Amino acid sequence: MNNMHPTSTEQTPGYRVLLLGGGGREHALAKALSQSPHCSALFVAPGNPGTALLATNLDLVPSKAEAVSAAIHQYQIDLLVCGPEEPLVNGLSDRLCDEFGHQELLFFGPGASGARLEGSKDFSKQFMARHGIPTARYRSFTAEQLEAGLDYLREHPLPVVLKADGLAAGKGVVICATTEEACETLSDMLINQRFGTAGSRVVVEEFLEGIEMSAFVITDGLNYLLLPEAKDYKRVGEGDTGLNTGGMGAVSPVPFADTAFMARVEERVIRRTLSGLQAENIPFTGFVFFGLMKVGNDPYVIEYNVRLGDPETEVVVPRIQSDLLQHLVAACRGTLKAERLQTNPQTACTVMLVSGGYPGDYPRGFTIYGDTHQALTYHAGTRIANDGSLQTAGGRVLAVGAFGADVSEARKNAYARVHQLCFEGVFFRRDIGLDLGG
Ligand code: AMP
Ligand code: GLY
Repeated sequence: MNNMHPTSTEQTPGYRVLLLGGGGREHALAKALSQSPHCSALFVAPGNPGTALLATNLDLVPSKAEAVSAAIHQYQIDLLVCGPEEPLVNGLSDRLCDEFGHQELLFFGPGASGARLEGSKDFSKQFMARHGIPTARYRSFTAEQLEAGLDYLREHPLPVVLKADGLAAGKGVVICATTEEACETLSDMLINQRFGTAGSRVVVEEFLEGIEMSAFVITDGLNYLLLPEAKDYKRVGEGDTGLNTGGMGAVSPVPFADTAFMARVEERVIRRTLSGLQAENIPFTGFVFFGLMKVGNDPYVIEYNVRLGDPETEVVVPRIQSDLLQHLVAACRGTLKAERLQTNPQTACTVMLVSGGYPGDYPRGFTIYGDTHQALTYHAGTRIANDGSLQTAGGRVLAVGAFGADVSEARKNAYARVHQLCFEGVFFRRDIGLDLGG
């Protein structure tokens, strides 16, 4: 490592940080990064009106590598943190590390080879099989193998899960209750390209009966820091009904993810994943988000993501009391082993306020009334109108959260804040955390 580099911790403590993304996840990350004594300047691209209060928003698209590179030059960025997965899957880290060198630019986020854990379901399933990581049984099929796929489905127990191999903005999973539906869906994905090229290969897997939760780590590829776990509420309707969404709320910690269960997650899932990456010579600096199903008392991996979840971040990151920026820098420098995470033992609960019609079409441009400046309130889809007012600008508009001594109190506090905010057509689930003893 080059000790003459001006950002080396011994020389000056300050890092000029660029965070890519513009949702609630990035608002929560920006808040934590801005609180670090090691943060000398913070930029968020494109950011949102929430991050604008903490950082300088840059009007650029994270997936455009040239624009990101120009911003790194212009603003003398030392550390880049990537919020969303798409730039990672498309090789942004490889490209910028080649261009700037690992001494000049610390990039928190894996290269394209590591990002395949999220970018290809077929790759991640094969990876899990190679390394003995518990996951649902599966087979994958291409358009040429349609007939074999249909035969396989005719014998498959129900329900059965079909997943587009590539990135499909969280929409590429279909759970089919009948063989007929499964066969139609497989043809629709492979032949009619229902999910575009993401579905040119389809993973068919066994349905796991259990309860979902998510675990997160910061890793340098060898060592890891286990972040607080969370439970997300994905369906739009109460009681987990209706269409899948990006997430309607989240709670952390998760009472059923007790010490014994989390020990199994670390042993069977996290450590095996990291040693698998090492065995396959895949470098990995970044977040790993393990989407898990607790079946009985055993963890199974539903999916890997190479980023944090949204809205899970809005409850996980506020619970981190140690210096997040320092942890990310240590991961980039390969010194994560010395880091210790401190967490707030309180429970955090967040409720997503969404536009009426979401996750389908919805109107935007409604004025948001109420105090959006409270702790644990994060902007997701908002904009400042010409008259200076705050307006809705997306499906998920605000993540509104609070702490409490337990799920019940955190829920109560979060909903008290929710009721102080409104915009035309606002919708939210009233049962976030209710299943966890809230
Ligand atoms: P994913 O996009 O992979 O997170 O899948 C979306 C959702 O589908 C997950 O959050 C689960 O609720 C559900 N799901 C995916 N795979 C399975 C499975 N093998 N068994 C049961 N549910 C699943
Ligand atoms: N909330 C789920 C995700 O971020 O993928």
